[in-house]
Amino acid sequence: MNSDIPSLRPDSLPRHIAIIMDGNGRWARKHSLSRIRGHREGAESVRDIVRVCREIGIEVLTLYAFSTENWQRPRPEISALMKLLKQFLKSELAEMMENNIRLKAIGQIERLPADVVKVLREVMDTTIKNQGMILNLALSYGGQDEIVEAVRKIVAEVRADRLKPEEITKAVFSNYLYTQGMPEPDLLIRTSGEMRVSNFLLWQIAYTEIFVTNTLWPDFRREELIHIVHDYQERERRFGETGDQIKRGRGRQ
Ligand code: IPE
Ligand code: IPE
Ligand code: MG
Repeated sequence: MNSDIPSLRPDSLPRHIAIIMDGNGRWARKHSLSRIRGHREGAESVRDIVRVCREIGIEVLTLYAFSTENWQRPRPEISALMKLLKQFLKSELAEMMENNIRLKAIGQIERLPADVVKVLREVMDTTIKNQGMILNLALSYGGQDEIVEAVRKIVAEVRADRLKPEEITKAVFSNYLYTQGMPEPDLLIRTSGEMRVSNFLLWQIAYTEIFVTNTLWPDFRREELIHIVHDYQERERRFGETGDQIKRGRGRQ
C-alpha cells in the first residue's frame, strides 16, 4: 500500500463517496484567471481524486459535474464545460480501462450536446465490464427532477397494472431513480465552504455523513480526501439509534 495512506481501516471504508465539486470560479478569481481556467484546473483534481478513490478501494465515486440549474450559466461557460467534459472522457478512457473503472452517468443526459452524449455512451459501453470501481458522473443532474421522473415512471407502471400502489416501498421507489442498483452515499463532500446541497442526490443522502471543506475544488487533492475518509472512519453512524445501542451492536459482531 502507498505510504501516505497508512491510517485508513479497510473494514470501514465508505462504499460510496459523493462530491459536490465547487469553487472553480473562486479559484480562478483568486489567481486572476478566467472561470474557464478554473474549470480546467478542476479537471486535474478530478483525475487525482478518481485515482486515489480507486487506490483505497471505494466502490462508487459520484461527482457532481453539472446541475440542471447550471444550464442558466452564460453560454460560453457552458460550452467550455461541455468541451472539457468531452476532452476528459477521451483522455481518461485508457486509464479507466487500465484501472478497471466503469463509467456511469446520472442526470438528464439527453440534454447534453450530441457530440458529448456520443463520447459518453462510447466510454460507458467500453468500460461496462470493469468492476474495480464505478465512476458515476452527475451531468445535467437535479435531485428534484430525478424524483419527479421516478414518480412518472411508477405511475405509468401502476396504470399498466404492472405495479400495485401498496407494493411501492422505499426499496421499490429507489429502483426508479438514476442511481438504481448503487449503494447510497456513505460520505458527501462539498468543497469551497458552501453549506447547501444544491439539489444533489436528495433521496439518496437521507443518512449520508456530510463533510464541507473550505478548500476550493482545484486545490482539493488526494491528501485531503484521505484526511476526510479518516475523519469519516472516526464518526459514529447512528441511523436514529442511541450511541449505546450502536456500541452494543458492535460488541455482538
Ligand atoms: C463548480 O465550480 C463547477 C460547476 C458548478 C460546474 P463553480 O463554477 O460553481 O465555482 P464558484 O462557485 O463560482 O467558485
Ligand atoms: C453545485 O455547484 C453544482 C455542481 C458542483 C455541479 P453550484 O456552484 O452550481 O451551486 P450553487 O449554485 O452555489 O448552489
Ligand atoms: Mg459554485
